[in-house]
Amino acid sequence: MKLIIAGSTGYVGTELVRQALAHPAFTSVLALGRRETPIPPNLSSGVDQSKLKSVVVDDFENYSDDAKKQLAGADACIWTIALTPGKYRSVPPDQGAKICRDYAAYGIETMSNLPRAEGSKPFRFVYFSGSGSERDPAKKPLIMGEYFVLRGDAENRILGYAQKNPGKVEACIAKPGMILSPEKHGVLIHAAIGLGSMVLGFGKIDVRVLVAGLLGQVVDGFEKDTLAPADLERLGKERWEKTKAGGN
Ligand SMILES: NC(=O)c1ccc[n+]([C@@H]2O[C@H](COP(=O)([O-])OP(=O)(O)OC[C@H]3O[C@@H](n4cnc5c(N)ncnc54)[C@H](OP(=O)(O)O)[C@@H]3O)[C@@H](O)[C@H]2O)c1
Repeated sequence: MKLIIAGSTGYVGTELVRQALAHPAFTSVLALGRRETPIPPNLSSGVDQSKLKSVVVDDFENYSDDAKKQLAGADACIWTIALTPGKYRSVPPDQGAKICRDYAAYGIETMSNLPRAEGSKPFRFVYFSGSGSERDPAKKPLIMGEYFVLRGDAENRILGYAQKNPGKVEACIAKPGMILSPEKHGVLIHAAIGLGSMVLGFGKIDVRVLVAGLLGQVVDGFEKDTLAPADLERLGKERWEKTKAGGN
């Protein structure tokens, strides 16, 4: 399988690249970003790094012919390009909407229309969102409401595109709560986020577990079109245990 990881330089993207390179189902990993994607640190020994190809795009609403050529023939994409709430506050709203919603909507359309082998299965597209996003603007949350409704609008557009193109595209929205990493967060941060997630109810998940589960969904097919925090934990735990034991 040829997999595109959009936002491969980011926090989640780096773990996706790391696990996809070690996964036998993925013969090619196309790391899509606005800059070159380095080989992730801490790769398991024996991993075939030659599966990784960096694809750099300057304008995510207008892919160059060269970028399209490199992305052609892909079977799936996991899209992580977006702004987290803290970064969203620092850009004008129209720029935030482009990065969090329009780039992904354009991405699924562009990728699913690229040439693919005869008889290929539908193109699978995962859009990374978050547990707080809201698809109904009438239910705009009190805190960061504009951001969460924007992310919900992106979810609606991605799912709507797949619904309009049955047999050609399948889409899935991943809605994790806080994503934790033993490399990035120390014990105290883990404990504080764990407590906060319990009190505020936004959920938390280990990035390795999350990624193992989503790669499994891309390979086997989507269980459903929206994966809530509990789904991501359930799907990921079993896969991560297998991955740790050296299988997939
Ligand atoms: N982190 C969490 O705890 C968490 C929790 C729930 C949901 N999520 C969601 O998970 C997804 C990934 O989050 P993350 O933590 O991995 O974010 P991240 O580390 O900030 O990575 C974001 C990626 O998007 C790219 N990007 C940002 N602005 C861009 C632009 N203007 N043009 C092109 N690419 C751009 C970044 O590229 P550069 O490296 O070049 O900047 C990076 O590859 C997001 O949708 C986020 O909302 C995250």
